[in-house]
Parts: sequence; structure tokens; C-alpha cells
Amino acid sequence: MKGRVFSGARPTGRQHIGNYLGAIQNYVKLQQDYECIYCAVDIHALTTLEGTENLKENIREMMLDWLAAGLDPEKSILFVQSHVPQVMELHTLLSMVTPLGWLTRVATFKEKARMQPHNINYGLVGYPVLMTADIVLYKADTVPVGQDQLPHLELAREIARRFNYTFGDTFPEPQALLSDFPAVIGLDGVNKMSKSLDNHIELAATPEETGERIMTAFTDPARKYRSDPGHPEICNVWRLHHFYNPNQVENIAAECRGALRGCVECKEQLAQGINAALAPFRQRRAELAARPQYVEEVLADGARRAHGIATETIREVKERMGLI
Ligand code: TRP
Repeated sequence: MKGRVFSGARPTGRQHIGNYLGAIQNYVKLQQDYECIYCAVDIHALTTLEGTENLKENIREMMLDWLAAGLDPEKSILFVQSHVPQVMELHTLLSMVTPLGWLTRVATFKEKARMQPHNINYGLVGYPVLMTADIVLYKADTVPVGQDQLPHLELAREIARRFNYTFGDTFPEPQALLSDFPAVIGLDGVNKMSKSLDNHIELAATPEETGERIMTAFTDPARKYRSDPGHPEICNVWRLHHFYNPNQVENIAAECRGALRGCVECKEQLAQGINAALAPFRQRRAELAARPQYVEEVLADGARRAHGIATETIREVKERMGLI
């Protein structure tokens, strides 16, 4: 039997090349070997949001990127977390087998509490319980995530184990599936590419926007003048060439070291590589965006299918817990 994959992403709107290289391309690949369920976790987003006015738009933009990148609604279930409300029911039930100490010692909780001291809400503490509910509601056994999510996955396993121990075997213990892709560094040259740091390149950007953004990228500070020899190994533009001009990296490095190319040309070449690689994606995305109601239909169908699985699991959980 095929394993079942579940993964969730907070709806951050238009996705960037870091999201694609680090996660989305892996989601697409997994569709071949697993039954996949991919979710826009809008309720999780509420734990850190100041406002909710962009939430629905952000979900739509993320879904368009996922679909254009190759997530196939015929193969996979694509849905929005809050459209299948049983996850909140399961969250409450799982909270009864989750010691508070497990949650308050999670590093991401402490980190978020530090980032938003004015808003240390109850939902933030329960974040990993809701994430566990996401996964086990669908009895997923495999969860593709980044390194940063490993503590959450460990907790999910502990909660599932404790539930199984207390009420009888119900849930598989979900395994993290780490992608071997290295973190993609943003245009600032130091931090992981992220929208919140504004050091990113959107997949759906126009070729012109892409070029303009790359011109702002931080390069080797030793190259004040074109005649200064460079150190490609510390330059993020060079690192990005690995993904978009893979056959030319050696050549580019040699020219940089020998001061035979300037950073501006180097960035222009990177922009060309990115724009060429993304042209088919951008074309597909524009077509999907132009189809009225397409995303809404995909999400309604995904929610319907997810709902079917969720209903079964909730019935089983309630039976085991003595509620029905
Ligand atoms: N916590 C994850 C993140 O911040 C998102 C997420 C929510 C998730 N539920 C999930 C990831 C279930 C994997 C499985 O990226």
C-alpha cells in the first residue's frame, strides 16, 4: 500500500524560489509514490497574525503557485485547513493527552513568545497540538518538512504515541521526511530566503521585476571595482547560479576570481537563468489565474475529500475515548 503524505504550509501569499527549491518541488515529486495531502494552514496563521484581511488572498496566491508548479488536484488532495473543521475538534481531544510542559519547552514557542511578547496567546502554546491534529486526522505516516519543524514532528509522535497507549492503537507515528536540499539564502546573502525579510524572488514575478531584485543582491564585498578579484564561494549570487545556470558555475567562478566579469553582468546572467527556468511556470500560472473559480473548485473538491477521511477518524477517536 502507498504511504500517505501530509504537509502544511502557512499561507504566505506568493511563493518564492526558496519555497520552491526547498519544499514545493519535493511535494510535486512525492505525488509519484505517495497519496499526498497538502494543506494551507490558515488557522495556524492566526497564531502570529496581526490582521486577517489578506488571508484569503494569500491562500489563493499560494495555491496558484502550488498548482502551476505541478501539484495535481487529480492526484493529491489540496485544501484549506479551516474548511475541514474536524481538525479543531481533534485538536481539543488531543490536548487532553498533551502535558503542558511538553508545549512550553518547545524552542519555537519560546522564540515566538519572544518575538511577540504582546501576543502570547493560547493558540501559540497549542500550535504543535494543532499540527499533530493535522497529520493524524488523515493518518499520514510521512511528513515532508524543513529542519526547523523537527521538534514539532517529535512532539507529534509523542502525542500520537500517548494517545495510542491510553486509548488503543489508532494513529501511525508520523515520520519526518527531510528534503536534502540545502537552505536557499536570500538576496541579503546571509539569511534564509523569506518573504518577511524581503530578501526573496517571487516565482510569479515578471522578468523585469526579477532582474531588478537581483540587482539589489549582496555580493562579495571585496569587489569594489570590477578589477578586484572576487571570492565566489562567499557570494550568494554564485550559489544561486548553481540552481539556474548549473553548467556554468565553474566558468563563472573562474571569471569572478580573475576579475574577468563584473557583478552586474553576473547578476544579469542569473536573472536570465531564473527567467528562462520559470517561463513555463509563469505561463501556466497566468492561465490558471485567468480561469474563473478554478482555485475555488480545486479547494472545494480537496475539502470534500479531506472531510471524508476526517469524519472516519473522528468517529474512531470518539469511540476510543468513550464519547460515543
Ligand atoms: N508548522 C508548519 C510550518 O510552520 C506548518 C504546518 C502546520 C505543518 N501543520 C502541519 C507542516 C502539518 C507539516 C505537517 O511550516
